[in-house]
Amino acid sequence: MKPKNQGSMKNPDGFGTVGNPRCGDIMTVYIKVKKLKNKEFISDIKFETLGCAAAIATSSMVTEMAKGKNLDDAFKITRQDVADELEGLPPLKMHCSNLAEGALKRAIEDYRSKAGSKAKTPEKTKKASASKKKKK
Ligand code: FES
Repeated sequence: MKPKNQGSMKNPDGFGTVGNPRCGDIMTVYIKVKKLKNKEFISDIKFETLGCAAAIATSSMVTEMAKGKNLDDAFKITRQDVADELEGLPPLKMHCSNLAEGALKRAIEDYRSKAGSKAKTPEKTKKASASKKKKK
């Protein structure tokens, strides 16, 4: 196994750390973002994982999948997408892919909160509109 994009990043534009409560493993994703024609793209991405082989494989894969994508598309990457790209994970290891998805989403949210981006994450937009509807 040769994980790609492994390591820390100096002065990331955003980063996110998640832990897996089932096993205690931890993953951090760092991103650099570039703006091009009003879209924000992940120009560089790294990860650090203290975890099992599946956690390292899913970390590596999620960074490969997200690199070069615009933030909205990168935010839509799911743990199932990551597992599919790896041609499946054993059922007992599916939870490991939660780390990859979660750390990437947190890194994007961190970037957006620092950048004061008006573009909300798709999840937040859905929740906000759902709660507005309930209040009516
Ligand atoms: Fe902890 Fe895989 S067993 S992330």
